[in-house]
Amino acid sequence: MSSFDLESFLRDQVARVEGLLRVRVEEMAPEVPPRLLESMRYSLLAGGKRLRPVLCLSFSDAVARASVASRVAEDAACALEFIHTYSLVHDDLPSMDDDDLRRGRPTNHKVYGEALATLAGDALLTDAFALVAGGPEPVRRLLCRELAMGAGSAGMVGGQVLDIAEDRPAHIDYLTRMHRMKTGALIRAACRMGALAGGGDEETLARADTYGDSVGLAFQIADDVLDVTATAEEMGKPVGADAAAGRFTFPAVLGLEASKELAARKVAEAIAAVEPLEGENGPLAALARYAVERHS
Ligand code: IPE
Ligand code: IPE
Ligand code: MG
Ligand code: MG
Ligand code: MG
Repeated sequence: MSSFDLESFLRDQVARVEGLLRVRVEEMAPEVPPRLLESMRYSLLAGGKRLRPVLCLSFSDAVARASVASRVAEDAACALEFIHTYSLVHDDLPSMDDDDLRRGRPTNHKVYGEALATLAGDALLTDAFALVAGGPEPVRRLLCRELAMGAGSAGMVGGQVLDIAEDRPAHIDYLTRMHRMKTGALIRAACRMGALAGGGDEETLARADTYGDSVGLAFQIADDVLDVTATAEEMGKPVGADAAAGRFTFPAVLGLEASKELAARKVAEAIAAVEPLEGENGPLAALARYAVERHS
C-alpha cells in the first residue's frame, strides 16, 4: 500500500492553487465591473477540490522533475479551474440541473440572479484563454488548443449535451462516451497540459493521455456513485438528484458494485501508465486513487 502522504500533499497543492487563483483575480480586478468580479470570485474562490489544477501541476512537476515555479504551468492550472468553475455555474442554472447548493454554498444564480451567473460563467471561460495565451512561450499555443478541445464541443460541452439528450439509449457505450466527454475530457486536458508545460516528449504525453482518460472516466463514475451513497453535507451539493431527475448514471445502468469495480479498474490502468514517470507510489498514483476514493 502507498506510504505517500496524500493528505499533506493535497493540503499543500490546494493552498498553492488557491494562492495562484487569488493573484490572477487581483490582477484582473481593476478592469472588471465590480458586480461581475464579485460573482466570479464567489464561485471561483468557494473551495472545491481543485483536482484539475493539481493534476496539471503534478504532471508538470513530474515531467520537469522539479517543483520549480513555472509560470506556464501555473497559468494553465488556473485556466483549468476558471473553466471548471464556469461549467459548474452554468450546470447549476435552472435551465440545466437547477441546483441550489454548490461547494457548500447557495449556487451563483441564487445569489446573483440568472443573468449575472450566466455572464460570470462566460467571463471565466473567456478569461481562461487570456491566462493561457498571456506570455511569450511557444508552448502556450498548444496549451490553448488542449484547453479548447477538452472544454469545447467535442469535449465537456459536447458531453453535457449528451447528458441532457432526451433520446439517449440506456446503453453502457453511450454512458461511457458521455462521461469521457463531459468530465473526462477536461481532466485529460489537465494532465496533457501539465505534461506539455513541463516539456514532456511524445511518450510522456501519451502516458498523460492514458492516465487522464482513465482518471477522468473513473472520476465521473465516482461522482455518480457519491450521488447515491454520500450526504449533501459531505458533498457540498445536493445528492440523490440524479435519480430524482431520472438521470442516466453508472449506478442506474450497471448497478453500484459493478460501477465501483469499473472505476477501480480504470484507476489501476492510470497508475500503470505513470509508473515510468514517477516510480511506485508517487503523487500521480495517489491522485488517481483519490479520484474515486474521495468522500466529497
Ligand atoms: C463536479 O466536479 C462536477 C463534475 C464534473 C463531476 P468536482 O467534483 O471536481 O467539483 P469541485 O471542484 O470539487 O467542487
Ligand atoms: C457535471 O456533471 C459535469 C460538468 C461538466 C459540470 P454533473 O451535473 O453530474 O455535476 P454535479 O453533480 O452537478 O457536480
Ligand atoms: Mg449536469
Ligand atoms: Mg449538476
Ligand atoms: Mg453529478
